Amino acid sequence: MTITKYECDDCMKDFLKQLPKCEHHVHLEGTLEPNLLFKLAKRNHITLPSNFPKTEEECRERYNNFADLQDFLDHYYIGMSVLIKEQDFYDLAMSYFKKAHDDGCLHSEVFFDPQGHLERSIELKTVVSGFHKACIDANKKFGTTNKLIMCLLRHLPSSDGLKVIQDSKKYYQNNIIHGLGLDSSEKPFPPRLFENCYNLIHKEFPNVGLTAHAGEEGNYKYVEDSLNLLKVTRIDHGVNSKQSKKLMERLAKDQTLLTICPLSNVKLQVVKDVSELPISLFFNKNIPFSINSDDPAYFGGYILENYIAVHESFGFGVKEWKQISLNGINGSWCSEDRKKELRNKVDEVCEKFGKLISI
Ligand code: ADE
Ligand code: ZN
Repeated sequence: MTITKYECDDCMKDFLKQLPKCEHHVHLEGTLEPNLLFKLAKRNHITLPSNFPKTEEECRERYNNFADLQDFLDHYYIGMSVLIKEQDFYDLAMSYFKKAHDDGCLHSEVFFDPQGHLERSIELKTVVSGFHKACIDANKKFGTTNKLIMCLLRHLPSSDGLKVIQDSKKYYQNNIIHGLGLDSSEKPFPPRLFENCYNLIHKEFPNVGLTAHAGEEGNYKYVEDSLNLLKVTRIDHGVNSKQSKKLMERLAKDQTLLTICPLSNVKLQVVKDVSELPISLFFNKNIPFSINSDDPAYFGGYILENYIAVHESFGFGVKEWKQISLNGINGSWCSEDRKKELRNKVDEVCEKFGKLISI
């Protein structure tokens, strides 16, 4: 089968870069580039397993050959074992915020996996302080806004998740962590297993944003169960929502944001090519989605590369891109004032490029 590709010329690339973007689906641990990984391993005297890639080149080779989500996760959890001190978490997040800023991403809501560190005897305070300080400094240095979303690992029991939630209450209280998410191996661990964790957060902190990975490898029922049982207002990935007309109608009616990760879906064999993703379908059905990088150090591209990949597959014009950008702003968890600011910037950029781009 031949795949039609649209050209993303320099003007279009410039437009996509300048278009104010919000990122809602990026795992800070997934931004650990091989050069920083090896630098931290050295700095912290960590010996990586003998079958772990030994050079940046070997990493690239490994990253081009993930069989599926689990194969990636097995590697990802080893990679993050080089993160030990507060400074390491700070350096990691700062390098992401710089790249996001360079790509024209003005607001980021970033995931982190505390249990991946706690099980290695790293204290929660070390992780949260490093990430939180980077959020503050990125705001000062780049003017970007950022929010932390704590994810629970679904391959661990919900009792473990409850404990992390108890220990992180002070961070929710003090507006240091803003959301709760659910990630890791999807299919064997359905949403219902974590109903108690989501109930606990929702009861104590009704303003905390709730989201969950669903419909990445799991079918559309994982999306429905996340909405019904976990009461999430956002779905991470959600591409398998395309399997149910009724679900798609619900997502459109409630304007539930799907945080789609095109390059990730290709690298983890969810689809063979970005053009197979239901991006036009969702757009035409008025289902809001944002475009995100997921684990950019592993999947070959940050947010702008994901926008370009979508452009090359779907050939959207300024009008469609404007709508995608506005949908991302609407679905963000930042203040109304910040949303207004971002919408004004979208108007400015689209007005300018509307005169230069004919589609
Ligand atoms: N953790 C990091 N990336 C993930 C993904 N794409 N799906 C589930 N868990 C993850
Ligand atoms: Zn993810």
